[in-house]
Amino acid sequence: MTIQDKRILVTGGAGFVGSHLCERLVELGAKVVVIDNFSTGKSENLNNIKDDIEVIVGDISEYGQVDKAVEGCDYVFNLAYPYGVDGLGLHQAYIDTGVQGTFNLLKASTIHKVKKLVNVSSVSAYGIVTEPNGDRLKKRISEDMSGRHFLHYGITKLSGENYCKIFPTSFGLDTLSLRYFYVYGPRYATYDHSALIKFLTRCKEGKDLKLFGDGLQLRDYTYVSDVVEGTIQSLNCRGNGEVYNLSGGGESNIVDLAKLVIKTTNADVNIKRITERDLVFDDEWVRIPFRGGVTKLTDEGWVDERNYVADISKANKDFGYKPKVSLEQGVKKMWEWLNEQS
Ligand SMILES: NC(=O)c1ccc[n+]([C@@H]2O[C@H](COP(=O)([O-])OP(=O)(O)OC[C@H]3O[C@@H](n4cnc5c(N)ncnc54)[C@H](O)[C@@H]3O)[C@@H](O)[C@H]2O)c1
Repeated sequence: MTIQDKRILVTGGAGFVGSHLCERLVELGAKVVVIDNFSTGKSENLNNIKDDIEVIVGDISEYGQVDKAVEGCDYVFNLAYPYGVDGLGLHQAYIDTGVQGTFNLLKASTIHKVKKLVNVSSVSAYGIVTEPNGDRLKKRISEDMSGRHFLHYGITKLSGENYCKIFPTSFGLDTLSLRYFYVYGPRYATYDHSALIKFLTRCKEGKDLKLFGDGLQLRDYTYVSDVVEGTIQSLNCRGNGEVYNLSGGGESNIVDLAKLVIKTTNADVNIKRITERDLVFDDEWVRIPFRGGVTKLTDEGWVDERNYVADISKANKDFGYKPKVSLEQGVKKMWEWLNEQS
């Protein structure tokens, strides 16, 4: 499919992934429109393409703003989300954006006869998926699996996906949802709780890397250019409300990730193991009684000790998704970018 001269709306386009997606769409000749409330997004993320795109400062939870933004568009990519906020808190903005905002986009896209809406979801939409005895999942997680939920974030992403499922059959709008896995790359938010950004930042500061638990949980990191290509390629699938994993296709446990970061950065730091006794609980955490029994809190954020490694064969089969950037290459690029920052 060619997207040359197509008018494409990117919600959350001033964010980390959204800005990379917009750059690529411009490169491919699309007419890009961004709607972003700039809660975590930054105008400088769009500096490279600011003269080539239209930017609407707006909120997708407001139907009137969404309707105007969607009018005349051929395709919609929905990436807006208050993602920088921690996933355990009781944030109204998660519902406003992830549920109401997604519904607004679906409704406006139906009315304005958009050709396809691609909704960006997350690995968090899986909930807790383990072996039947509670052990870490041994195989790659595929779209037909699901588990018990413990994250407000995950539930709103799942709700958005579910709304996307009813629109192809009930309202004639082609949709699909993409579950991103641990995306990283330039412009990544340095305040995020991801182990990778924390490790890189600590190496830059010459501080030891803190590691909680055995560190053997597996992750499937995705370099941003891979997820961007996959997101654009997904326009080629049918759009019957299906859900697809998009990941880097590799796997690394946290100990190996820490070692890779130290090797790449050549930093003079060690891996320091911390235990339950070292945990610091601030007031907010103490007030929220649930933990789902699966997530441990450290003084640096929360740690999820399960495996999340994606089976990406469905995305490969339906729209040819094939990630290209290895974790080694990606961490090197990310380190170079981090060093360019003040
Ligand atoms: N980065 C990852 O590892 C990862 C993993 C899984 C899923 N995702 C999903 O990918 C998408 C992009 O994530 P990101 O890492 O680029 O985050 P980000 O915070 O950099 O980007 C999100 C953008 O959405 C904007 N936004 C938030 N609420 C809005 C609203 N109501 N109306 C309009 N704009 C709004 C923010 O200002 C920001 O520019 C999100 O939907 C996120 O849930 C990301």
